[in-house]
Amino acid sequence: MTRETIGVAIEGISKRYSHRVKGEVWAAREVRLDVAPGEFVTLLGPSGCGKTTTLRMVAGFEHPDEGRIRFGEQDVTGVPANRRGIGFVFQNYALFPHLSVAENVAYGLGVRGVPAAEIASRVAEVLGLVGLAGYEHQFSSQLSGGEQQRVALARAIVIRPRVLLFDEPLSNLDAKLRVQMRTEIRELQRRLAITTLYVTHDQEEAMAVSDRIAVMNQGSVVQEGSAQDLYHRPVNEFVATFVGRVNLLPGRITGLSEGGGSVAVLGTTVRVRAIPASVAVGDAVRLVLRPEAIGIAPAGGGPVAASVVSHAFLGEKIEYDLRCGDVPLHAVRYNAGPGIVMPDGATVALSLAEDALAVLPGSGS
Ligand SMILES: Nc1ncnc2c1ncn2[C@@H]1O[C@H](COP(=O)(O)OP(=O)(O)OP(=O)(O)O)[C@@H](O)[C@H]1O
Ligand SMILES: [Mg+2]
Repeated sequence: MTRETIGVAIEGISKRYSHRVKGEVWAAREVRLDVAPGEFVTLLGPSGCGKTTTLRMVAGFEHPDEGRIRFGEQDVTGVPANRRGIGFVFQNYALFPHLSVAENVAYGLGVRGVPAAEIASRVAEVLGLVGLAGYEHQFSSQLSGGEQQRVALARAIVIRPRVLLFDEPLSNLDAKLRVQMRTEIRELQRRLAITTLYVTHDQEEAMAVSDRIAVMNQGSVVQEGSAQDLYHRPVNEFVATFVGRVNLLPGRITGLSEGGGSVAVLGTTVRVRAIPASVAVGDAVRLVLRPEAIGIAPAGGGPVAASVVSHAFLGEKIEYDLRCGDVPLHAVRYNAGPGIVMPDGATVALSLAEDALAVLPGSGS
């Protein structure tokens, strides 16, 4: 039995709630997003930005006030959840505690009328896929959190869904298990090539698992792209600060040319490639300077003088708090061997990795 691989088109869906404390809330506002067949796309954003609301509308658990949702050619906006062919993995697993692992996984096949012999072989197959071979008769109340999440994953994929949906599936697990499970989810998704929409507020998790990330804020998608797109070319301050650490430095455009321009910043001039089309020479801008794009050399070894306020040696890397005039800077250097740490109070010379710089319009104030 094969499953067609289809894409998902989210076409301007909105959802309003009347909230007791906040009044009328646009939980989702004209959300537009395409997920290509077999693609893994993540909705990333802070608490309350509308990730769960959007995902639940794709699942069919909520109905949008406006907009349409398409699975392949089919408009599923009015189709009930159990007819959409989705697998949903919840944060709290939502297993039946009084049923065994096999019964939990078999449940969705039973209600679909799949014959008993086929159920048994499909349950065994997916339990193997999620690393729980032999767990059939264990009760779900006797499993660790990580094992319960594997059962929830097995239950979602056993029905051979057209679309797999995850809502913060790893947030109840400890840090080490989160990293292990996200790798397993990603490998399984690749192997089965199931079109996937995943929700998390954890930017590192989003970067680790996704083909593409849609950053949400206040009910809307503000930017979508690969992890590298978002990190190196954020469209606004929200994305720049939400995806990774950043220094946003006041600067001014001093020249524009094809494929970039020059920016006066920190008492020097740097070349920047990622310059938005809306800025003109003379405009105030903010330079997007990532911590690892700051090179640190002994005094005199670069164009910008600064001092080390404090540092932390973390083994693989060294984190620095620096000051350049009255501008604070956060920098990270990877540990290239003994003897490279700049002590607190040292005067140093900074260089900026020009390929890694970007510019945001405006002064931000
Ligand atoms: N059933 C509801 N009734 C009223 N307001 C709701 C309801 N569900 C969600 N909201 C509101 O809609 C907004 C978006 O909620 P949603 O659960 O989609 O956010 P989220 O991004 O999933 O957040 P989190 O990361 O905390 O899970 C919030 O302001 C929330 O208070
Ligand atoms: Mg949520």
